[in-house]
Amino acid sequence: MTKEISEETGAFYHHYPRLTVVVTAHAAGKDDAMAAAWHMPVSFDPPLYAVSISPKRFTHELILDSKEFAINFLPAHEAELVAAVGGSKGKEIDKFQAFKILKDNPIKIAAPILKAAYAAYECKVVDDSLCGDHRLLVGEIVAVHWQKEAFIEGETLNIEKVSPVLYLGSDQYLDISECTVRTLDRKVYGKVV
Ligand SMILES: Cc1cc2nc3c(=O)[nH]c(=O)nc-3n(C[C@H](O)[C@H](O)[C@H](O)COP(=O)(O)O)c2cc1C
Repeated sequence: MTKEISEETGAFYHHYPRLTVVVTAHAAGKDDAMAAAWHMPVSFDPPLYAVSISPKRFTHELILDSKEFAINFLPAHEAELVAAVGGSKGKEIDKFQAFKILKDNPIKIAAPILKAAYAAYECKVVDDSLCGDHRLLVGEIVAVHWQKEAFIEGETLNIEKVSPVLYLGSDQYLDISECTVRTLDRKVYGKVV
């Protein structure tokens, strides 16, 4: 395959596929949910999780008010839900009612947890900075929800039981339910022989 090089970055979609989550928030009696592909863990101790959200999003408004959000990890068979909350505006509709989204109760924050999530992080905002046209919100994880059967020894996602929502860009979603898992021991592979 030949490689192209350009200084014109355009929308730079080359980092997809990405694990895509639903960010939920609650403020002033309102709940909202949005899809987010731009998110990542940033620290073990304290446990910090970051998400990049455009200030145009109604979810962002609720996070700004409440200083809280939840990150919900969904299985691939719930990708329609991700597309639904990623394609609608909380300013115009109550997405939970419109899409019949079921909630679980949070324990430390007010943002709803999605019943369909195989895992979720309750976060309190510790940092909020402008990064270009998005805001980088860093939250301290104050509670974790997870389906026990979805994880091996509480850590590794059991891909035979749950395949996560993976977004490819351009409204395309990957289904990796038929995939191979390879274990590559870093101590073995990082050794110079
Ligand atoms: C798959 C997917 C991923 C998205 N990722 C992000 C993201 O990381 N950050 C962001 O600000 N918007 C992202 N969006 C857009 C928001 O989810 C979308 O604008 C949504 O309608 C916002 O809803 P709200 O106004 O109710 O908050 C994504 C949309 C889709 C469909």
